[in-house]
Amino acid sequence: MRIAHFSDIHITADSSAIPWRAMLSKRIVGWLNLQLLGRKGDFREAASITSALVADLRELQADHILFTGDLSGLALDSEFEEAHRLLEPLLGSGRITGLPGNHDLYVPAAARAGTYDRLFGAWEKSDLADPPPIVRLLGDDVALIALRDSRPNAFHDSSGLVGADQLGRLEKTLSDPALEGRRRLLALHYGPRRCSGEPDRRLHGLRDAEALLSIAHEGGIELVLHGHLHNRFVLPAGDGTPITIANPGSATHSRYERAYHIIETGAEGIELSARRYDPDAGAFAAWEDAPGSGALPPPA
Ligand SMILES: [Fe+2]
Ligand SMILES: [Fe+2]
Repeated sequence: MRIAHFSDIHITADSSAIPWRAMLSKRIVGWLNLQLLGRKGDFREAASITSALVADLRELQADHILFTGDLSGLALDSEFEEAHRLLEPLLGSGRITGLPGNHDLYVPAAARAGTYDRLFGAWEKSDLADPPPIVRLLGDDVALIALRDSRPNAFHDSSGLVGADQLGRLEKTLSDPALEGRRRLLALHYGPRRCSGEPDRRLHGLRDAEALLSIAHEGGIELVLHGHLHNRFVLPAGDGTPITIANPGSATHSRYERAYHIIETGAEGIELSARRYDPDAGAFAAWEDAPGSGALPPPA
């Protein structure tokens, strides 16, 4: 089973095209971030790199594709529509699972308007009833479980939360007979650890990371896949985490590697490789010897 994992494409609207009414909210913080802290420049090529990514994914013909959130910059309808247009070749296949990031639920009004759900509901298909979590039973041997850990936040906060209810559902899901004998992969937006193995900051990280890792470890999860942190890394089990954590980083951020991961599961274990964007070729290519690639260590 071969799964391609990408994240954080951040399709971001041109500020001159943003309606002023849409700015009367936390969006003003995001907009200032874009203007003053250089984020606008960071994602200036997001649309063209996403096109190259989609072309690469179509050629790769993975068994399944996973997206772990942050399609947009400010959860604007125009950004979701553009992201939908770019990703459309992948969306109809039924072989893609996606979840929203905090930027996709940036303000309560965006969550209420439901544009994200309307355009991307198709990638939240679950093979078990009553999501979240979404459960995809892939082939005979893999279960991909995806959580919703993003929510609209106050001005100064960009943290995530799985929540007690969803943690309970996850625990129950992991003992479901339908998962028996399958390798279990867990997807979410927030990283339970930074690349150093330390937990992320309170205002930026996952509030219930410890509870999640403990339930996941107990329930036989072999690999955690996430986004949100834009720097790519693989944190092996034992290095401050009981389960290996793999984050492909942002696929489009100009100051990082602009990579995506390929996860291959087999009888012997799980292997990871990466592909990254080559700006000269305008295309993605194999990233030989990407740090952390190769056979992944099993849970500690
Ligand atoms: Fe992000
Ligand atoms: Fe995020």
